[in-house]
Amino acid sequence: MFGHVTPAPPDAIFGLNDAFAKDPRPDKINLGAGVYRDEDGRTPILRVVKEAEGRILANEASKSYLPIEGHPDYGRLVRELLFGTDHEVLREGRAATVHTPGGTGALRVAADLLEDIQPGARVWLSRPTWPNHPAVFGGGTLQIAEYPYFDPETNGLDLEAMLEALGGADPGDVVILHGCCHNPTGVDPTAEQWRRVARTLAAGRLVPLVDFAYQGFADDVRRDAAWLPILCGELPEVMVASSFSKNFGLYNERVGALTLVTDSAPRAAAVLSRVRQVVRRNYSNPPGHGAAIVREILGDPQLRRLWLEELAAMGGRIRGIRRQFAEGLDARGVSLHASGNGFIDRQNGMFSYSRLGPQQVERLRIDHGIYMVGSGRINVAGITQSNVDRLCDAIAAVGPGTP
Ligand code: LMR
Repeated sequence: MFGHVTPAPPDAIFGLNDAFAKDPRPDKINLGAGVYRDEDGRTPILRVVKEAEGRILANEASKSYLPIEGHPDYGRLVRELLFGTDHEVLREGRAATVHTPGGTGALRVAADLLEDIQPGARVWLSRPTWPNHPAVFGGGTLQIAEYPYFDPETNGLDLEAMLEALGGADPGDVVILHGCCHNPTGVDPTAEQWRRVARTLAAGRLVPLVDFAYQGFADDVRRDAAWLPILCGELPEVMVASSFSKNFGLYNERVGALTLVTDSAPRAAAVLSRVRQVVRRNYSNPPGHGAAIVREILGDPQLRRLWLEELAAMGGRIRGIRRQFAEGLDARGVSLHASGNGFIDRQNGMFSYSRLGPQQVERLRIDHGIYMVGSGRINVAGITQSNVDRLCDAIAAVGPGTP
């Protein structure tokens, strides 16, 4: 059975970690996977997480199975984190939430649900997008299509091209959007642009599936979710894949959620029953610990406050280091775009779509021990006071390039 199996290529993102680990150079820099690092280059456990874990350890009485869709309080708290405490979707009970192993798990559960209820549906991905999106949605009957998103001339959103492409989609097609901190570009629509996206989806009877992995990293948890009432104002059906890897620093606990907004409470219950089937045949029911932490924190006003402070501090460090990175390039006379390096400051979230081309990315890795995703995506959170100068020197040495 295994005799004909040849090795698969390394993962576009996590494969970099393996290569980085093998690199013996002491001054190597990992700007690959989207993982927050502090000034010392560590990925800390948030203080609030430690506090919540202490309470959980002291109080948990059983490790029996969770319901297939997860703990009901978890589902409610996730919905409130998305919508705030008062929204008609919540009042009318039109949304169901299922606790998934991470945000990727949420996307995969959504893909399996589509395979069950809408086989052969077309799934539209932004160009560019997270390299795992095509893999998560491909491989079955779902068809993958792309819509333009990024304008290389302006380093911004190409809204007109995006809407034109989506205007050609068929009713029932699914459109993957990024809630905030678009991965890899860091370019997000404004509220007005979200309105236009929502109206285009409504006109075409398309269904959005919003990948929401960075809530709290652009502005704050509320403002980063401002697209949701806009979409729900125009559309009866919306899917949201939440990840708590980054905003709670719970990467290896694999905790996320899939929330499905439908047009009525009975429909939400029906859809949830189908999602339960998907989960049952995949991993049966979800892992408990990470979601217990999220539940403990979101359900306690004092812990929630502490969490929001720590989240704001992570975002603040990233914004500060973006500035320093751009200034470091300016100081060396290096411009990563015809318009200068100001775009680095304007991008949201952990990533800078640096506009470094594949040759520069390769030379940075081989000649300088600096690792980033092949698209030129830099995890800005991997830049610190102690490596920013070396990074800027290395980029000056390889040249800005034309992606
Ligand atoms: C990333 O894009 O680097 C993160 O979302 C981690 C991952 O799963 O790829």
